[in-house]
Amino acid sequence: MGYYFLQVPGPTVVPERVMGAMGMPLLDHRGQQFAALAAEAAAQLKPIFKTEQPVIIIPASGTGAWHAAIANCLSRGDKVLIPEVGMFSVLWCKIAREMGLEVIEIAGDWRHGINASDVEKALSADKDIKAVFATHNETSTGVTSDIQAVRCAIDSAKHDALLFVDTISSLAASPYDHDGWGVDVTICGSQKGMMLPPGLAFAVISEKAKAAMDSSDLVPGYFNFTPLISASETGLYPYTPPVTLFYGLHEAGKMLNEEGVDAIVKRHEKLAVACQAAVKHWGLEIQCQDESSYSNAVTAVRVPEGVSADKFRALVLDKFNMSLAAGLGKVADKVFRIGHLGYQNPLTLMGALSGVEMGLEMFGIPHQKGGVNAAMEKLQG
Ligand SMILES: Cc1ncc(COP(=O)(O)O)c(C=O)c1O
Repeated sequence: MGYYFLQVPGPTVVPERVMGAMGMPLLDHRGQQFAALAAEAAAQLKPIFKTEQPVIIIPASGTGAWHAAIANCLSRGDKVLIPEVGMFSVLWCKIAREMGLEVIEIAGDWRHGINASDVEKALSADKDIKAVFATHNETSTGVTSDIQAVRCAIDSAKHDALLFVDTISSLAASPYDHDGWGVDVTICGSQKGMMLPPGLAFAVISEKAKAAMDSSDLVPGYFNFTPLISASETGLYPYTPPVTLFYGLHEAGKMLNEEGVDAIVKRHEKLAVACQAAVKHWGLEIQCQDESSYSNAVTAVRVPEGVSADKFRALVLDKFNMSLAAGLGKVADKVFRIGHLGYQNPLTLMGALSGVEMGLEMFGIPHQKGGVNAAMEKLQG
């Protein structure tokens, strides 16, 4: 009973305004009214990605955006360099291999961000690499990588590789600048910082990536960027778009622009710092070992050896009606993740942290009481 705390790093809480917009009656998707709404929805996203390029809207989850980016811009047999930062970078490798790419993986420990000098070394050793795939915020571990450093590594190696960046859980939470940072392909999803239900994905591509589309020999089919690029200007889609989600996108885009992307990032930074302060006060370990890579979107907390993070999460859900996120892959059952992304403010975070602290006590996880107060101090400043 009472408010359900959805504290996972996606899907995130959908604001009442967005829910209201999605309750509007459906429209003829080939009519002028929908076209105007869809074109405006796409245009509103440009300041969020910090780009002058059209924002491509793809009816799919984030995985669909990975697929689309590869299918449009690369060819069978192309070599791609993928630094391992956690579960999502590993899944990106898997889909790349399934689509016929040759993947060179840079091994990582899931506790640090991308090491740009490793990227530079790998690129210097192999001029045939066609693209570097960088996960900006690794949602499974709460580690954010320095994308500008990756760009510099490509430039220092005097390499022609395209830079693909997954911003699925970083956009509208961490600083990001598609044009300014020289990113070639940015991909994102609707269900995180965008404050929408799952179901839409996004891509922004550079002129260089557009040129690469001409020589790609993969078959993008449903994901073909060419009609989707023109749809982002005209609002006329090559197939039936999810009209309801477009209503939501239009409203969410308005909200994001009303707050302003820089203010959104500051709000997330503050929530993240408060959450980290609570975890440190409790005496628990943060999965990310490098403070400069702490995520604005999610904090992954390690439980002591022999404790089941999943059973702890189940208790918190049962007692406090709050969903914390599970550990994935090699940190399954070893971490729980507190999402502080999207439609969140100091009081929603305080509620979430209170639930965690009470849960620690009830589950018998040794900790120092008062993490909630430590967070409160950060939020008051
Ligand atoms: C960083 C990152 N990349 C990719 C994905 C996959 O997106 P989806 O589950 O929407 O297909 C996720 C999902 O959480 C993610 O966090």
